[in-house]
Amino acid sequence: MSSEYLYQRLESWLRQGIEEQRWHPGERLPSIRDLCRQHQLSKATVQHALQRLEVQGMLEARPKAGYFVVLQPAAVKEPVSRSRIEAPRPVTGSDLLLDIMRRSAAFDLLPDLHAGDLPAGIVTLNRAVARSLRRQRGELSQYYDEPEGDLSLRQQLALHLSRRGWPVDTDELCVTSGCQHALFLALMATCESGDVVAVESPGFYGVLQLLEQLNLQVVEVPTSISTGMDMDALEEVLKRWKVKACVVSPAFSTPGGALMPDRSKHRLIALADRYDLALIEDDIYADTALGTVPDPLKKLDTDNRVILCSSFSKTLSRDLRLGWISGARWHARIIHLKLVTQLASSRYLQQGVAEFMRDGSFATHLRRQRNDLRERRDQLISYIRSWPLEVRVSQPLGGLAVWVELPEQVDVLKAYARGLQRGVVITPGPLFSVSGQFTYCLRISFAHPWDERRIAALQLLPEILDLNKK
Ligand SMILES: Cc1ncc(COP(=O)(O)O)c(C=O)c1O
Repeated sequence: MSSEYLYQRLESWLRQGIEEQRWHPGERLPSIRDLCRQHQLSKATVQHALQRLEVQGMLEARPKAGYFVVLQPAAVKEPVSRSRIEAPRPVTGSDLLLDIMRRSAAFDLLPDLHAGDLPAGIVTLNRAVARSLRRQRGELSQYYDEPEGDLSLRQQLALHLSRRGWPVDTDELCVTSGCQHALFLALMATCESGDVVAVESPGFYGVLQLLEQLNLQVVEVPTSISTGMDMDALEEVLKRWKVKACVVSPAFSTPGGALMPDRSKHRLIALADRYDLALIEDDIYADTALGTVPDPLKKLDTDNRVILCSSFSKTLSRDLRLGWISGARWHARIIHLKLVTQLASSRYLQQGVAEFMRDGSFATHLRRQRNDLRERRDQLISYIRSWPLEVRVSQPLGGLAVWVELPEQVDVLKAYARGLQRGVVITPGPLFSVSGQFTYCLRISFAHPWDERRIAALQLLPEILDLNKK
């Protein structure tokens, strides 16, 4: 009997148990050791079955605590909206995006929210940065940092990434001013004006803005809200048009937190090799994983064509403006472009963050953040399910937001205007595509504390969305 058969059998048994509510939503499954004993299986076989159910969104791994049944897996309806494949086209300006960005960073209901204390991790980070500032000596302030960034930070980043199964050298990393800057450098290094770039749809609006500025054409690839970019659709796109690069977020893509299964990652690499395209991996949400942190796509890159981009914006602070890039075969050019576009990064900020990582404070902060995010995600999903109409909502295993599909007659752009009148900024679905799709969808963040002001804003949503009358 093959081991494949054994893990599949255990997987089916566990799935049936969850569906029949032998274990209730939120309940812990028997430990790996107990499952091994009860089913006479090896630890690796049991872990494999559990991880597969985790990727399917039925279980959630909580470090050091075990596997838990996710919130109401059978009752929550997963979003189903898909985009269409259309011919490549230039990106034209989105006034909506600029309007939202001016009000904040397009990420929440109430951008002027100032309530609440600083998270403990950020207090510790601020102290580390302050110490780094005090350590400034001599004439260093008269010199720019080297373009690839401070070695102490690159060492910590290399260590951090190697813990995810990708052993990287410090000279393969370059510090950037956030992930948006890293994406910009990656596109500049790999494409020329007029080239076609494939993106997730729905996907990150910041990439669309970059394509517009760089005069690149976009082709949108239909993307599942739970499993990410559709590889059959990508293959069809690659057969029909010459695509230069593909921007993809295998780990919890925005807007719905999709997690790309390993088989899709392998297929993506194979397609990139066959059609000779650059893969630009936006890894910014990986460390928000509520369970196991997924391996980066970059780990599978045997042909040196995956450029990994990320930053501390989703884990520490958007204000740091610190990110990183590993530029594969384009790395030298990327360092040059970083020099041209930014000269250098702030040395004391980098050294402060490096100290924060070195003494274990970053790991502690991520653990705390994970617990907070899990709780807030569950609160938000339960709240949305109490709305007067049945809606579909994603159940992400990471990221900072859920994607909500409303009845098709809801017009979220009209709701956006109504929301502004009530002091609430929503993030409408059409923002995540160039082709005016997703007019009945919206993204809602669970990054913020579940406090009175937030609850008050959320309670206004059914009215703003005009759900009561539908
Ligand atoms: C998917 C994704 N990539 C990149 C960015 C840009 O991040 P940064 O603040 O590091 O520039 C964001 C920010 O919202 C994002 O959601």
